[in-house]
Amino acid sequence: MSWIAKNSLSWLQTLAIKVLKTGHVPKHVAIIMDGNRRYANKAKVEQVEGHTKGFEKLAETFQWCLEFGILEVTVYAFSIENFKRSKKEVDCLMNLTKQKLQRLLDEREKMMEYGVCVRVIGNLSLVPQDIRILMAEAMRITKHNNRAFLNVAFSYSSRDEITNAVRDVIRSVKDGDITTDDVDENLISKCLYTYKSEDPDLLIRTSGEVRFSDFLMWQTSYTCIYFTKVFWPEFNAWDLIYAVFYYQRCYSDMVKMKDDCQDNVSMLNNKTKKFIYKLYKEREILFENVSTIPMIE
Ligand code: FPP
Ligand code: MG
Repeated sequence: MSWIAKNSLSWLQTLAIKVLKTGHVPKHVAIIMDGNRRYANKAKVEQVEGHTKGFEKLAETFQWCLEFGILEVTVYAFSIENFKRSKKEVDCLMNLTKQKLQRLLDEREKMMEYGVCVRVIGNLSLVPQDIRILMAEAMRITKHNNRAFLNVAFSYSSRDEITNAVRDVIRSVKDGDITTDDVDENLISKCLYTYKSEDPDLLIRTSGEVRFSDFLMWQTSYTCIYFTKVFWPEFNAWDLIYAVFYYQRCYSDMVKMKDDCQDNVSMLNNKTKKFIYKLYKEREILFENVSTIPMIE
């Protein structure tokens, strides 16, 4: 299955989306796609089938988001914690990812036609090299697309992301590019893996688990959170419609909260701007040489 599914909306769902589009629609939605294995158990199919259905659901959900005019989606595809699962399952998830990335590259015209930019966020040093190379290629060929953004959090955890940001900041203080007085929330935000994105407006977690599992912890302070009991492979367009409806009900409170916190947002000065510019250049070079990053076992 492709990364962008065919439109599967019923006329009633299309109508509901049209109605909701007259109100505030989130610009950026983050999703914790949970419940693949429980779905597989329930449906009495192999675990791999649950994960494959999970990928298909991602493609379908991304298409519904485009219908809604939600132009940025960030999904939790594989956490650093997931490396602790059985070798069989990790290998199966890596194989699935490899297949899907290859598919993306084979269908690059489709990504270009829809103008979708794919970004992988996470600690790539933990990812097998063959997959890393495919990820880099997917990001490279789509990097100028700007009609929609699909961020795939892979080998990701918030604590790792924040640790990495702190390391970059400490290094630049040591190098004398900035001083400790320059370090504030805004600067840390700009050093996260998500530096290219605005914070999500809505976070959806499926499967009935009511926790964040170390996903976008820094970025979701002012995000509307929607938990649903449905297992990810069973998520349907109505679930997305309810989530957006829930977001619209929370909207005014959230805007007020965000406005109140805007007072604390600092501006970058020339020194910090220079540091950020240097950091992003370094990351670009690292990304271009992604196949040579030593893998941490
Ligand atoms: C959570 O369900 C799901 C995952 C750990 C994997 C999610 C991956 C995909 C949907 C495929 C995406 C692939 C790409 C290339 C983007 P679970 O395994 O934790 O199931 P459980 O909660 O029922 O145990
Ligand atoms: Mg789970």
